[in-house]
Amino acid sequence: MLKTILVPIDGSSNANRAVDFASDLASKYDAKVVLIHAADYPFGRLPDELHDYAVSEHIDGPDEVGTVIEKILASAELRAANAGVKETSHESIVGDPEQVILDAATAFDADLIVMGSRGLGEVRGLLVGSVSEKVLHNAKVPVTIVR
Ligand SMILES: Nc1ncnc2c1ncn2[C@@H]1O[C@H](COP(=O)(O)OP(=O)(O)OP(=O)(O)O)[C@@H](O)[C@H]1O
Ligand SMILES: [Mg+2]
Repeated sequence: MLKTILVPIDGSSNANRAVDFASDLASKYDAKVVLIHAADYPFGRLPDELHDYAVSEHIDGPDEVGTVIEKILASAELRAANAGVKETSHESIVGDPEQVILDAATAFDADLIVMGSRGLGEVRGLLVGSVSEKVLHNAKVPVTIVR
């Protein structure tokens, strides 16, 4: 029943926990983990929070959008592989996160979306970030929100 799990990630610790949760499920169900990042930065410029993340993670060329995203996706793929997931893929897709995630769920024929409750956004106090909330409202498949 569980063949493909879509995990949208933004580099946040909540998204990393979503990767770990999805990987645990996927290794038990022998499912594939599809990691995606929606790049919605105007003029190809990294948002401040992602730049700060890149600096704190000592990523070379913290201003290079492609380098930072590739590093985030590759390290998530490694987490999944280390957790025993046999099949993984990763992709960065340009567009609005909500739409990219919903379209990817259809394109990859995902049975489940696993995502973080919050991301790299600055606004504290919200239980669930705007991307998670919109996906939760509009997805056609089950959504697991990881805290
Ligand atoms: N650009 C993105 N690409 C892929 N997944 C994303 C992206 N942004 C957020 N997500 C996913 O959504 C989860 C929740 O992040 P969200 O953006 O909703 O919260 P936030 O950043 O705290 O708040 P907000 O963005 O509304 O200020 C993340 O843990 C991640 O799984
Ligand atoms: Mg966000």
